[in-house]
Amino acid sequence: MPNNNIILIGFMGVGKGSVAREVVKHSKYMAIDTDDIIESMENRKIKKIFEVEGEAYFRELEKDVSHWLQKSVQNTLISTGGGFYKVKNIKKIGTIVLLDSPFDAIIKRIKSHPNAVNKLKKRPLLNDLKEAKKLYDLRRPEYLALADLVIDVTDKSATECSKELLKKVKKYV
Ligand code: S3P
Repeated sequence: MPNNNIILIGFMGVGKGSVAREVVKHSKYMAIDTDDIIESMENRKIKKIFEVEGEAYFRELEKDVSHWLQKSVQNTLISTGGGFYKVKNIKKIGTIVLLDSPFDAIIKRIKSHPNAVNKLKKRPLLNDLKEAKKLYDLRRPEYLALADLVIDVTDKSATECSKELLKKVKKYV
């Protein structure tokens, strides 16, 4: 039986962190974030890990985190980095919720943020938008295939998305 967690997946910048914070406000869920866990484990930023060790090393850390989540975490909202969905045991960690939006809408969302420059800078895989679009096209069908529930977040506030998420999860579980 899978663990009793909710796992938020979706492309970089789609708003997983913002929705997670709203879910915490409107429910009894506690939230954790796989990127935050990795930064604490390594005591350095994701950007630095990519620069110094490379992406393959980061993906191994994601696998380590996935095993820990499966073994030790319950009743928690887990927001994930955009590539975390590739870990083999993801289905065993909990109910998978995809935050979905077209690529252009995601980029527009990031660029409209007051802290847009940093939002783009801290994500190594968003440095080149042409490459990022290719990655999005590759991943989107995989996200959809994996998701138990999908929330279209386009033009919705994080509060609206969090309410929709809680409603859908309640019906699903
Ligand atoms: C990644 C997404 C990032 C972070 C890392 C790699 C990806 O997280 O894990 O830069 O492969 O899509 P966000 O989705 O929170 O930006």
